[in-house]
Amino acid sequence: LFAGGAEFLKGVVAMDGLPPDDRVEVCFAGRSNVGKSSLINALTGRKGLARASNTPGRTQEINFFTLGDTRYLVDLPGYGYANAPVRVVETWQRLLKAYLSGRATLRRAFVLIDARHGAKSVDEEILTLLDRSAVTFQCVLTKADKVKEKDRAKILAQVRAALSKHPAAYPELIVTSSEEGWGIDTLRAVI
Ligand code: GTP
Ligand code: MG
Repeated sequence: LFAGGAEFLKGVVAMDGLPPDDRVEVCFAGRSNVGKSSLINALTGRKGLARASNTPGRTQEINFFTLGDTRYLVDLPGYGYANAPVRVVETWQRLLKAYLSGRATLRRAFVLIDARHGAKSVDEEILTLLDRSAVTFQCVLTKADKVKEKDRAKILAQVRAALSKHPAAYPELIVTSSEEGWGIDTLRAVI
């Protein structure tokens, strides 16, 4: 599937701009700057396919990438703090929520959590939305290269405890580093 290549299809700013729901899709959600776009680049082996940056709020549209002929990978705007005007942030948060709760072909949401920080209350809000919408989600820890070995177990336990309260959660966590390539094969296999 990944050998077939990934291409940018379109950036969507309103629900009526979504591409036809004729493929299975998975999306990448998470707080601003958690590493969603970088993870898509690592998965597809194409640096710069999804635009990443150190400024929270980089991705401001729902970006669709085709993966072979049968899948979409969907890069979402972040939630939580973003370096953008409040009015603009509100617009894309509404779109994000509409997408997460109203896309029939969304097969799984990957919810990214920074391996240094664990699950925060803004994450909880999104996880609850996914529960209510019956969208299966799986948590992916990002930036694992920035965590000391001794701190990792504590964060894993914290995230597992948070997930146990969510009926739509897929229990298995995937620990990744886009920088180091850790966990990327595992995530590809899941997709
Ligand atoms: P928004 O689009 O703003 O919501 O951010 P995003 O979640 O798409 O994050 P993005 O991929 O743009 O990455 C944010 C920053 O984190 C960039 O400076 C990346 O280089 C860095 N980053 C992403 N993944 C990793 C990782 O695995 N390890 C390290 N060390 N840095 C990472
Ligand atoms: Mg992004």
